[in-house]
Amino acid sequence: MTSAQSIAKIFETMNYGPAPESPATAQAWLYAHAPRLSLFIGNEWRDPSGGEYFPSVNPANAQPLIEVAQATAEDVDAAVRAARAAFPAWSATPGHVRARYLYALARQIQKHSRLLAVLETMDNGKPIRETRDIDIPLVARHFYHHAGWAQLMASEMPDMRAVGVVGQIIPWNFPLLMLAWKIAPALAAGNTVVLKPAEFTSITAIAFAEIVQRVGLPPGVVNIITGDGRTGDTLVRHPDVDKIAFTGSTEVGRIIRRAAAGSGKRLSLELGGKSPFVVFDDADLDSVVEGVVDAIWFNQGQVCCAGSRLLAQETVAPALLDKLRARMEKLRVGDPLDKAVDIGAIIAPVQLEKIQQLVQQGVDEGARMWQPSWACPTDGYFFPPTLFTEVSPAATIAQVEIFGPVLVSMTFRTPAEAVALANNTAYGLAASVWSENVNLALDVARKIKAGTIWVNCTNVFDAASGFGGYRESGYGREGGREGLWEYMRPAWEHSGAAEADAQAVESRRTNGTGKGKKKKAAEAALELAPNGHGANGHAAPDAITGWPALDRTPKLFIGGKQARPDSGYSRPVLDAHGDYLGEVGEGNRKDIRNAVEAAHAASGWADATGHLRAQILYYLAENLSTRAEEFSQRIASMTGCAQAEAAREMEASIERLFTYGAWADKYDGAIHATPLRGVTLATHEPIGVLGLICPDERPLLGFVSLVAPAIAMGNTVIAIPSERHPLSATDFYSVLETSDVPAGVVNIVTGPCRTLAKVLAEHDDVDAIWSFGSAEGARIVEAASTGNMKRTWTDYGHPRDWLDATQGEGREFLREATQVKNTWVPTGE
Ligand code: NAI
Ligand code: MG
Repeated sequence: MTSAQSIAKIFETMNYGPAPESPATAQAWLYAHAPRLSLFIGNEWRDPSGGEYFPSVNPANAQPLIEVAQATAEDVDAAVRAARAAFPAWSATPGHVRARYLYALARQIQKHSRLLAVLETMDNGKPIRETRDIDIPLVARHFYHHAGWAQLMASEMPDMRAVGVVGQIIPWNFPLLMLAWKIAPALAAGNTVVLKPAEFTSITAIAFAEIVQRVGLPPGVVNIITGDGRTGDTLVRHPDVDKIAFTGSTEVGRIIRRAAAGSGKRLSLELGGKSPFVVFDDADLDSVVEGVVDAIWFNQGQVCCAGSRLLAQETVAPALLDKLRARMEKLRVGDPLDKAVDIGAIIAPVQLEKIQQLVQQGVDEGARMWQPSWACPTDGYFFPPTLFTEVSPAATIAQVEIFGPVLVSMTFRTPAEAVALANNTAYGLAASVWSENVNLALDVARKIKAGTIWVNCTNVFDAASGFGGYRESGYGREGGREGLWEYMRPAWEHSGAAEADAQAVESRRTNGTGKGKKKKAAEAALELAPNGHGANGHAAPDAITGWPALDRTPKLFIGGKQARPDSGYSRPVLDAHGDYLGEVGEGNRKDIRNAVEAAHAASGWADATGHLRAQILYYLAENLSTRAEEFSQRIASMTGCAQAEAAREMEASIERLFTYGAWADKYDGAIHATPLRGVTLATHEPIGVLGLICPDERPLLGFVSLVAPAIAMGNTVIAIPSERHPLSATDFYSVLETSDVPAGVVNIVTGPCRTLAKVLAEHDDVDAIWSFGSAEGARIVEAASTGNMKRTWTDYGHPRDWLDATQGEGREFLREATQVKNTWVPTGE
C-alpha cells in the first residue's frame, strides 16, 4: 500500500467527531427575552391584545425555545395604521437617506451574523453550516444590494413611486432570508411594511426587529406581527393594505388570491414547485451527484425550488444512481448545530407526517424506495434522505410537492422527452440542466417553463437576480431590478384606497348591461326580429342609393377565420344616441374554448424573431392607415365623439402599432452582476396565452393598446372587445387578415364582456389575463383566476388617458406581457 493509498484508506474509515457550534450566545438571547416575545408595532414592543401565545420549538430535540405572540385583528390593525402613518414621510425620504438605513441594516446583520445563524438553526432545525454560510450572508447581501436601489431609484426609475403599505407573509423554510427578500426591496422603493413570519419560525424576525430599532428606522416603517394563518388572513383582508407579498404553499396562495380578489390590492405570490433536475449522458456525473445533494438535501429538501425530480438520460441513469446511493450512504443526518452534519431536522411533526405519508403512497403506487442503511436520531423530527426509482410520471410523488428530503427519479431518451417530462407538472419555479454541451443545455433551458434555470449548478441565489415562478408557482419576482417593480407603481397612477375611486368611476359608467332575465328576453327578441335587427331600430339606408343597407354582421375571429358564434345569437350595437348601429356575434363559453385552443396552436409565435414580429406590427399599422377614414367614421358613430377626436384616436392607434413594432426587437433582457463566475442571463419570455378584456374608452385605441404589446412580446391573445363599442375591433379582422398575422395569434370574441371574462379567467389554458375599464370586471377576473393561479393585471376602471404615451403604452405594458427567466451559466472548471 502506498502512503497515498493508506491516507485515502484512513479517510475512508475515519468517523467524524462532533463539531458543535456553541449555542451559548443564542441561549443568552432567549433567556433575556424569556418567557415570551412581543409584537413590534411602530417601533414599540406590545403584548398581543388577546393575550394568546404559542411555543416555538427546536425541531432537533422537540424542546420549546420561547413563547411567541398570536397577533389578533386588533393588533394587525394597529400595525397597518402604524405603517400607514409612516408612509408619507418614508416614501418622501430621499433615496440616499433610505440607502443609509438599508446599509445600516446590512451592517448590523453582518455584525450579529453568528447569533442570527445559531438562533435560526435552533428554531428551524437546518444545519448551522447552511445558516452560517448561506442564509445569513444572503440576508446581508440582500440589504446591501437594495441600499443601492434606494440610492438609484430616483435616477433609474424617475417615473415610479412606492405602492404604499405592504403586507408580507413568509414561510418557515428560510425565515430570515425570506424576510430580507420581502423587506429590503419594499423599503428601497419607499413602502412601509407589516410582516408576518411563519408560526414555526418567528424568533429571528423578532431579532431583526431589534436591529430595526437599533438602526433607528422611523417608527412604523417596519412592523413585525407574529401569529398563525389567522393573523395572515386578517392582514390579507385589511382594507388599508395596498399590496400583499406572499411566499408559501400553493394552497395558501390560492386562498390569498381569493381573499384579495376584488380588493384592488396588488399581489405577488411565490409558491410551490416540483423542479426537474435534468442530467444528459455527457454530464460530469461526479459533479451531478454533488449537485443532487445540494438540490434535494439542502435544507432537508424543504426548499420551494428543490430539485426534487431527477430526470436522467437512460444510458447514464444506472451509473448515476449507483454513485448517488453511495453518496447518500455517507450523508450525515443529526444535530443541526454540529458543523459536520449535512441534513438537519424537519420543521415540525405535521411536516414529518406529511413526508411519511407521501413516501408510503409512493411505495403503494409501485415505485421502488431506497434509503441508506443507517438510522436517524430519534430525539427530534428527522427523516433520512430517500430515493425513488421506477416512478411513473403520473405518480403522486412525481407530481406533488413533498417538501422533504425525498428524490424521485425518472429516465428519458431524447432531449425532447426530457423537456416534456420537465414541463409535466403544474409548477414552474426552477430547473437544473446538466450537460457539457452548451448548445443542448441552453436549448433545453429555453424550453423549460420555469423562472430560474441553473446550468451545471443548482440552488444558487443572489440579490442581483430575480427569483420567481411560471404557471402555478406564482407570479412576481424577488431580487434584482425585476423584483423591484413589484414594489413600485407608475407615478401618474394615484395611490391608495383604490376601491373607493374605482367605484365612483364604475357608477359614472353608463353601460348598464342588463343581467339575467332581462338580457335573455332581449336575446329572444333579437332572434325573432327579421334580419337580426333589434327592437331598438333599423340599419340606416345606404347614404347614396337610399336602398336598404346590406346586412353586414361581423362574426367572431378565431384561428385566423371568421367564425359564427356557437350560440347562434347576435347582439345589437347602439350608437351614442341609443340608435341601432349594427350587430355583433354573441360569443359564449364554447367560442372562448375554441379561441383558447387556436391561441395555443399558434404558440410558435413565441419563437418568431423580434424582427419578424416588428414587421408584422408595422404592416398592421400600414394596412390600418389605408382605412383611416372608415375607422375614424366608425369611432365617431359608435361613441358620438367629434370627427377630429375620432381621427386623433385613429392616428394614435397607428402610432401605437409602430411603438410596439419598435419594441418587438428591443425589450432586451440583462446579464445580472451576481457573484457567479459565469453569466446570469435574464431573458424576457412571453407568458403564453393572454386574455385581454378591452376598455370601452377609445374602442379602437384601447383594443390596439392591449393587443399590440401582447403580441409584440410573443404571446397569443383572445381579445374581448368593448361590449359597448365592439365594431372597431370587428372591423379590425380584415386588417389582421391582410397583414400576415399568423392564424390564432389574435382571436376576437365579442359578446357579454363579463361573462366571457369569467370563462377566460377560469380556463386553465389561459396563462394571464388583463382587465381594463371596469372595477366589476377586475373583481370577476381576480376571483375566477385562482384555478391555475394565472397572472392578472386589472385597472379597476381607473381612468387612464389612452392617448397619452406615458399612460397608454410603454414598459409597464411590456413587463405585464412578459415573464423573466434567469439562467445561471457558470464558466470554467
Ligand atoms: P403555509 O403556506 O401554510 O404557510 C406560509 C405562511 O402563510 C405562514 O406564515 C402561515 O402562517 C401563513 N398562512 C397560512 N394560512 C394563511 C391564510 N389563510 N392567509 C394568510 N396567511 C396564511 O405553509 P405551511 O402550512 O407552513 O406548510 C404547508 C406546506 O406548504 C408544506 O408542506 C410545503 O409543502 C408547502 N410550503 C411551501 C413553501 C414554498 O416556499 N414553496 C414554503 C412553506 C411551505
Ligand atoms: Mg421553531
